[in-house]
Amino acid sequence: MTIALPPPVRDGGLPLMQALERRRSGREFSRTELPLPLLSNLLWAAWGVNRPDGHRTAPSAINAQEIDLYVALPQGAYLYDAAEHALRRIAAADLRRVTGYQDFVDEAPLDLVYVADHARMRMVPAAQRESYASVAAGAITQSVYLFAASFGLVTVIRAWIDRAAIADALGLTHDQQVLLSQTVGFPTATT
Ligand SMILES: Cc1cc2nc3c(=O)[nH]c(=O)nc-3n(C[C@H](O)[C@H](O)[C@H](O)COP(=O)(O)O)c2cc1C
Repeated sequence: MTIALPPPVRDGGLPLMQALERRRSGREFSRTELPLPLLSNLLWAAWGVNRPDGHRTAPSAINAQEIDLYVALPQGAYLYDAAEHALRRIAAADLRRVTGYQDFVDEAPLDLVYVADHARMRMVPAAQRESYASVAAGAITQSVYLFAASFGLVTVIRAWIDRAAIADALGLTHDQQVLLSQTVGFPTATT
């Protein structure tokens, strides 16, 4: 099953310097789900196609675009298809709790998982592939932070995760490496 995302709204948000001033990690999340238009804008900001030639909102070495963004929602886990701006279902189960050891990952409405596809990095020397992919993923995570700061959301990047469990749940191949996760949601009433 595929979820067609509404076209992203490519303007609005805080001026960049104000978004940077508000950028921070938060670990208290409301259970409220993200409306589809907000999720659409977030995914586009994170790793969407921003030019007619297919280039993306974040850089990648030799434009390998080796990062796949998996999206764990209450109703299932999806792969973000940037070219189609759609979510392709990978699993019908709620995999949010698999994406990390911290309690809030089960309850927050969105856990992103950053996966490097080494098969797309054949032009990069093997010894550099993981670090290049980590840099690319880091750029995306910062865009999510700035989007969150700009639109009143809470987020935290997470490396304390069970990579084998995530790979198993998402049915990843041997070429795919789980790098990071990132939780996003609305603040609780008290934060
Ligand atoms: C590579 C990396 C891994 C991180 N892993 C975790 C994590 O597993 N869990 C967590 O709660 N925060 C994690 N963080 C968030 C940091 O704890 C946080 O960025 C740091 O305390 C600074 O706070 P700030 O982001 O609010 O400036 C990670 C940050 C980075 C850059």
